[in-house]
Amino acid sequence: MSGSKSATRGSSRPPDNGASPRGRYWRLLALSLGSAAVFAVLFYLWGRELFPRAAGRWGATFPFVGAVALTLAVALFLSEWFGFAGREIRKVRLAVRDFLFLCSLALLLFFAAKAVIDLLAEIPALGRGVPTRVYAYLIPLPAFAMVVRVLINSETSILFTVAASVLSAAAASGSWPALLFLLLSGTAGAARARRVPDRYRMLMAGVQTAPVCALAAAALEFSFHGGGGVLWAAIFGAVNGLLSGPIALAVMPVAESAFGYASDIRLMELSGTGHPLLSRLMVETPGTFHHSVVVGTLAEAGALAIGANPVLCRVAAFYHDIGKLGKAQYFSENQAGSANLHDTMSPGLSRTVILSHVKEGVRMAGEFRLGDRITEIIAQHHGTSLLYCFLDKAKPMIKDRKASEEMFRYPGPKPKTREAAIIMLADAAEAAVRSLDRPAPQEVDEAVTGIVNRVYLDGQLNECDLTLRDLHAVGRAISQVLAAIAHGRVDYPETGKGAIV
Ligand SMILES: [Fe+2]
Ligand SMILES: [Fe+2]
Repeated sequence: MSGSKSATRGSSRPPDNGASPRGRYWRLLALSLGSAAVFAVLFYLWGRELFPRAAGRWGATFPFVGAVALTLAVALFLSEWFGFAGREIRKVRLAVRDFLFLCSLALLLFFAAKAVIDLLAEIPALGRGVPTRVYAYLIPLPAFAMVVRVLINSETSILFTVAASVLSAAAASGSWPALLFLLLSGTAGAARARRVPDRYRMLMAGVQTAPVCALAAAALEFSFHGGGGVLWAAIFGAVNGLLSGPIALAVMPVAESAFGYASDIRLMELSGTGHPLLSRLMVETPGTFHHSVVVGTLAEAGALAIGANPVLCRVAAFYHDIGKLGKAQYFSENQAGSANLHDTMSPGLSRTVILSHVKEGVRMAGEFRLGDRITEIIAQHHGTSLLYCFLDKAKPMIKDRKASEEMFRYPGPKPKTREAAIIMLADAAEAAVRSLDRPAPQEVDEAVTGIVNRVYLDGQLNECDLTLRDLHAVGRAISQVLAAIAHGRVDYPETGKGAIV
């Protein structure tokens, strides 16, 4: 089922719908040329001797000719490779940020490869017994492939592994064993970084990668060069795998900060109520805070039911309504015991206040650097759904053509990922059941089914990967948890001597 397949990094990436195919092509080509030029300059500075040799007689006279040729070659490679993937693989998107991130990572890897090979060869104690070629088994591609899988997704990590293997193999004089080892070790690292909610799991992913790297390095060394360096190859391969966890842990916070990603480890850090936004939500809007915690529980159950990312669902739900901060009294969950302010407001003004919480939430998510995944879910958690509560009140205005029904819709976008869709359903279901007085499990189930049907028929799930089977499973999971919560709200019987506690 699509459940386990799409759960690679928790959220599937939406396709890049923001530009026409021609616009995307030129943007990609410009990016490729720009990043390839940077590569070429650095190649030129680092390995000056490569270019005259590569460009033959012309290179000997004009060393930059080699750099220009390499720029074009790398640009073509990147354009074709990522262009094809961006068009044909739905979960690979051509966002500028992702592209720059991948190029930066590939560049860093090239430097790391060059440094490992050149510096280790300078150490006299190692130089005597170890063939120089064996140092290529220390190129830390598994760590970088793990970072790409954790921060973007599995499809992109495979693409990155192939592209970065080709580029990094240049640092090892383009030898076949090095290229094959890089391809294999990068894939092994990415494959073992499936769910990484904490540092321990990341370290363990590296430990599990180590035997594969050791075996691959020993086999490649033996098959291409005989028995001389097999032991060193195995040792270096194992060390590469073991170090991939710590290296990935060191690279990830920098990448998150520079490019606005949010790994599951970052999400776990954000889940504590010590975060200033959650603290404010708890103190200033306790109703919204309680609503967010319940939506988090429901969304987590929904995610577990279909193999989506439960950590992302729970933590994004905590933050989905932060845009209500500062205007808590306008939202029903904070109005217990007080007058409804919307009774004295025009439907148009009510609409403006309510709709603004999405835009304000996205702004606050950016200000507090919550990362791309939470920000996207905040923007998408109402999709383009209708403000049903004000629609009846606005009917006379709509009849007089002073307003249209479309004005009472959220601006969108619709949920693009399964996690965003689950939070939309959990959010709406929680609000619907909250309005019921001591509902029986049957009533909860009917209310949740009604919400799921309404959201589906309104087309809000048209742009995400949720299958009908997923939808049914999510609805059932939400219904079960909500029924358990509602069932827990029982009155303690009076005994005449005070309540039993
Ligand atoms: Fe909301
Ligand atoms: Fe909400």
